[in-house]
Formats: sequence, structure tokens, C-alpha cells
Amino acid sequence: MLTPKVFTTICIILITFPILLLYHDTLKELSVPYARPIIRPTPQFVASGNSPCLPPTTPEMTEEAVRRHATCRKYSPFTTGKARIATVTAHFGSPSKHYQKAFQSHLLHSLIHGTEVGVMCDAIVDDLWNKPAFILELLMRETMRPEKERLEWIMWVDRDTVILDQCRPISSFLPPENSRFGSWWGRGDRNHDGYNKREVNLLVTNDSNGLNNGVFLLRVDEWAIFLFTAILAFRHYRPEVDLPFTEQSAMEHVIRTEQFKHQTQFVPQSWFNAYDHGGAKMFATREETMDMNDEWVRRGDYLVHFPGHPDKGRAIYEYTEMLKDLPDVWEKATVQRDIGRDVAEFWRNLG
Ligand SMILES: *[C@@H]1O[C@H](CO)[C@@H](O)[C@H](O)[C@H]1NC(C)=O
Repeated sequence: MLTPKVFTTICIILITFPILLLYHDTLKELSVPYARPIIRPTPQFVASGNSPCLPPTTPEMTEEAVRRHATCRKYSPFTTGKARIATVTAHFGSPSKHYQKAFQSHLLHSLIHGTEVGVMCDAIVDDLWNKPAFILELLMRETMRPEKERLEWIMWVDRDTVILDQCRPISSFLPPENSRFGSWWGRGDRNHDGYNKREVNLLVTNDSNGLNNGVFLLRVDEWAIFLFTAILAFRHYRPEVDLPFTEQSAMEHVIRTEQFKHQTQFVPQSWFNAYDHGGAKMFATREETMDMNDEWVRRGDYLVHFPGHPDKGRAIYEYTEMLKDLPDVWEKATVQRDIGRDVAEFWRNLG
């Protein structure tokens, strides 16, 4: 529908465009000092804390990233997203070889896609509560930046996760951004807190125990600050509530409340939080997936997560070793599940 606002804008564009073309050269000269690309004044990988938990970026890693980037461009169906995204994780406590290897799979992914990585190397509070504490700290830090330099989304990943498909960008999961037009023309369908009721700010998945917050996507926004403030404070304000999975249970309670449920979107677990079934060797060689549950990983999936795995260290080690030798699933056409169409359909159905 051509609303008066849209009409006016089209007119403005039609009128100003030829003028801009006419003065293009002049403008180019005038704007030289301002035309430099925005370079975020931070390195691509940021470690928080004093302990050195960020593995060094070796020349081998950079070489592998360049090589894989070329393979992904040639064979995978993905386009490069423009959103500023960071993978955020925590690696404190005594370092262990398998978690470092798992972390390296995320660093490689970040090098391939030009995203960022934020890692918490030292604890701030007790145990698992460090996760919401660090996320809140990071959100506040980001929000202090000029809007143009700010991260738009973060993907939290627990340390027991390994990237399986280095070609799939994080942006491929995100809701389509045409909702941005909404914010240009006045913020539209807003509830009393000022949030667009249909805007998705959090993508989470369930497993058989309910919410699993080992991997989730969060829009960097005031909403996220309020959400993580509520999660971090939950045990103090609702001490009577039993939290069998500590901060994960607190998060589950909070995202069910009227204040937060409208911007929270549950998505299928298979998108980015599927679990191992049968081990690394089986993953690489399995031919038939008919009898598999949806939440079990197979070739073509983005990531594998090992919550509650009885032999976690070994499983992670075996997966990382297997992935070194596994030929690219797009190049060799060994993909068993490509959620691409599901993702598009999912957001289309939500309007
Ligand atoms: C997620 O799990 C919780 C707890 O079992 C359940 O109440 C909720 O309906 C589930 N949500 C979805 C979208 O499956």
C-alpha cells in the first residue's frame, strides 16, 4: 500500500537522486575525509579478564580460514550477511585441551565470516551465573558505543559446542530485516514498553528438558539489557522458585513472562543446537538418517552441542579431530540436512 509517508519519500528520492548524480564528483571531493569505512576500534577477538584463555591466532589458522572461505564461496549456497555479529562464550577455570579445540572451531568460523568473538576468561560471580553476568556486561559495553559501531546480534555458545559447517554464516538464522522499515516510519505496533510486539529479539531452542540456553541468538538492544538484568536478579527476587538448571531455569521463567515473551522466538533445535548421537565417526560416515530424531546432528548442521554427555571431553576431541579430515560437505555434496528452506519458511509463516 502506498501510504502518504512512503509516497513522500519516493518523491524525495526521485527529486534528489538526479541532483546527487549531478554533484556526485563535487560531493566525492567534499566527503573524502568522512568517506573512510568505519573501522571498529577493537580487535576481532576480545578476551575479558586477566587469564589468557584466548588461543593465539596462528598463521595456519588464517591460511585455513582463507582456504575455507574460498571453498564456501564456490560451493555453499550462503551469501555474506552484513549484520555485525559476535560469538560470545566463556572459558574460565583450568584450561583443557578439548575445550580449546572446540573454541578454535568458533574462532575459525569467525575468521572465515569476518564476525567477532568475545570470551570471558575469568569468573565475576558464582558458577553458571557468570553467563548472564558477562552477557549483561557485554551488552552494556556495546550499547555505550556509537550505534553504527555497535554489534547488532550476539550468538552465545557454551564451551561444549563445536562448529560443524564452517560455511554457514550466523546471519542465516536471523529473521529478515524488513522490519527495519517499521522503525524508519515511526515505530509502528509498539506495546506499552515501547517494543515492537512482532520484533524478534531472542532466538532460543528447547530440548527434552525444556529451554536449553547453551546456544542462542540475542539482538543487542535495550530489551536485551532488561532481559539479562531480570535473569541475573531472578534468584534474589524470587528465592522461593526452584531452579533445577540454575540460570537456565531462571531464563526460562523470565522469557515466559508477559514482559519478555513477545520478543522471544523458539526455533527448532536442529537449527543451531542439535546433539550428538553415535559419535564423530558415525557423523562422518552415516549414510541413512531416516530413523534419526530431529535433534540429532548430521552432516550439513551448523553446530553440535554436548550437554550432559557422559564422556564429553573425549566426544569433543573426537569431533574436532574428525572435522579436520572431513571433506567440505558442500563441495562433496554430502549434506544430509540443509535447514535453509525451513528457516525462510519459518520466518515467512510468522509474517
Ligand atoms: C519448551 O519447553 C517448555 C517446557 O517443557 C514448554 O512449556 C514449551 O511449550 C516448549 N516450547 C516450545 C516452543 O516447544
